[in-house]
Amino acid sequence: MAPLVTLSTHGNVAIVALNNPPVNALSHGVRKSLSELLVGAFSDASIGAVVIWCEGRTFIAGADIREFGKTPLAPDVPEVVELIDAAKKPVIAALHGTALGGGLELALACHYRVALPSTRVGFPEVTLGLLPGAGGTQRLPRLVGVGAALDLIVNGRLISAAQALTLGLIDAIAEEPLRESALAFAETMLLEGRPHRRVSELVAKLDAPGQLEAYRASIAQRSRGFLAPFHCIEAIRAAVELPFKEGLARERTLFVELMDSPQSKAQRHAFFAEREVTRVPGLPDDTATRTLRSAVVVGSGTRARAIGACFADASLSVTLLAGTREELDNGVAALRVSSAADEARAGLDANAKGRRAPMACSLDTGLLNDADLIVEAGEGDATAQRQSLGRIDAVVKPGAILVTTSPYADIDNVAACTKRSEEVVGVQLHQGGTARVVENIRARDTAPEVSATLMKLAKSAGKIPVLVRGPVGSRMFTEYLREALFLLEEGALPEQVDRVLYDFGFQAGPFAESDRSGLDIEWHRRKVRFDSLDPRARACTLLDQICEQGRFGLASGAGFYRYDADGNRIHDPAVEDILVLHSKDRGIVRRAISGQEILERCLFALVNEGARVLEEGIAARPLDIDMIWIHGYAFPVYRGGPMFYADQLGLASVRNAMLGYAAEPGGEHLTPAPLVERLARGLMGFYATS
Ligand code: CAA
Repeated sequence: MAPLVTLSTHGNVAIVALNNPPVNALSHGVRKSLSELLVGAFSDASIGAVVIWCEGRTFIAGADIREFGKTPLAPDVPEVVELIDAAKKPVIAALHGTALGGGLELALACHYRVALPSTRVGFPEVTLGLLPGAGGTQRLPRLVGVGAALDLIVNGRLISAAQALTLGLIDAIAEEPLRESALAFAETMLLEGRPHRRVSELVAKLDAPGQLEAYRASIAQRSRGFLAPFHCIEAIRAAVELPFKEGLARERTLFVELMDSPQSKAQRHAFFAEREVTRVPGLPDDTATRTLRSAVVVGSGTRARAIGACFADASLSVTLLAGTREELDNGVAALRVSSAADEARAGLDANAKGRRAPMACSLDTGLLNDADLIVEAGEGDATAQRQSLGRIDAVVKPGAILVTTSPYADIDNVAACTKRSEEVVGVQLHQGGTARVVENIRARDTAPEVSATLMKLAKSAGKIPVLVRGPVGSRMFTEYLREALFLLEEGALPEQVDRVLYDFGFQAGPFAESDRSGLDIEWHRRKVRFDSLDPRARACTLLDQICEQGRFGLASGAGFYRYDADGNRIHDPAVEDILVLHSKDRGIVRRAISGQEILERCLFALVNEGARVLEEGIAARPLDIDMIWIHGYAFPVYRGGPMFYADQLGLASVRNAMLGYAAEPGGEHLTPAPLVERLARGLMGFYATS
């Protein structure tokens, strides 16, 4: 195996080169060799300056996250960083790719920094529920000022080399090849006898009194529930108020608090799950994929445009097929609006991914004949969609992939209605949370090649694709909402339930969320499944009563709430009347329900359905479910998703609480699913299964 770190000398300059693919993380082996070689170079009289440079696609992308939570092995990252800071000879960091976290902290301890123009730098620790724990919170405000440091550290925002140069974070932009440019920089610096600069010796000052308090207030809403952003501010406060060494100690204390917190564990879980989710069991990485160029989306409504945009983001040439002249006109107008918004966004964000390929709208059904991928995205019901897919199937070319987006249809039935069951797949986009998750639903006969192609397409569109055997998110949401409706008939109000889930960390509780996405979908699903519902769910007709009044949620101006012209939610006494009357009709005496009961029943209903989804093989792993809920339904990332959260609570205590609720009259549906029971009995969790 190639050595992780090597040293070569070029005249009186030493180049220390790291080679730890894929991202040159500061693993124990790297830290050990790096510090040994640096100590040697610092005591070698023939060496005047040292360049730290990395092989491969990037400069150091941070500490090795895989080592977090394990016993730390010396030297740790702060020790290596302080070794560099204290060096009597200048050290130059040569940056390319992404210099992140501990990597950027190491660079800040160097005495000069040069970077290729394409380099991006930043402190993404906050997204892992952490803060830069190797001097980053102490050095950055000293170097670039408190305002810029707050922006970069608290938001985890990456900036370009040009922006870093403007801020004074780097000293020069270098040309390719970087290694040679950095060497030349070091030689010139020695020749010119430039001063030996230590960022730790600078002073960090507030731009204005009360700056930190004002900043804290400005992020209070968007960082609600998170620990790390506020700890970051406190660490920066230490840079302003304390001498450097004491500031470092304060930073360490805050860092350790975060590292040990359930929040950071959950966010680290989410980081790895996001990468693991595309490695699907039974679908090897080398599964062949098809090269697709064109997609026709049958439909031009909201769903059609959203899915069309996803494929356009994957660089396919996308045409929306309208059914009538009016649909065509509306579709063209809507595309014009979204393309203008897209342009504006790309103009504002220098880091934006490549722009979306332009989309067209047409009435020409002949386009179906040549398309590589055809998406049925009409707004009709399952039968209408199945019929439409049958018509499409009759005209498309051999090898074309058919995608259904119906939220209701059984994918195996859909596939069976076509002549190409191995080329049929379902796709569901979710608009909640980061709106990045896509459920790719494979049918029994879907060819691995087709599944792999869809996964690859979604990934290149910047989405987080999850491969499943049936809808997961919507199925679990139905159970979650059902529990919330049971709470309404027992005595709670929509705003009370929503408040509890909001305080737990969701962007919106189940009723506000249902109103946002439209009650008609959930109502339709209820009608389709009515015969299979248990007696209590059949008798809980609240959703029917609300929808029968034409209250379909935000878009119709009313649902579980009323909405003003600006879309603000307002308590609606008419809804309360419906609830009270309904409880009376059902012979239920309304009671005060505690926040804890609301929270546990809603979440445990979710977890229980997740367990069934796993047991039935609809989702292969708990992480698939967690990704869907974090990125599609705004489950708080700092709780890691419903399945991870249940593990953090301890599945045995979740099971016991469920048994308690199940023993109450009308609570049988909260009987733990067999998988929950089995795992809890073995003192295991969804993730810790042995
Ligand atoms: N430690 C360990 N592994 C890491 C890693 C890290 N810091 N960063 C990335 N990886 C791994 C990923 O898990 C992935 O592994 P698999 O292929 O086995 O899944 C692999 O490297 C490639 O990563 P990506 O798929 O994410 O590749 P990318 O090219 O899309 O993105 C990246 C590269 C921008 C560096 C991205 O991986 C990233 O943002 N990494 C995290 C960076 C980070 O958070 N650094 C701060 C760490 S905390 C810290 O440094 C604390 C401190 O103050 C001491």
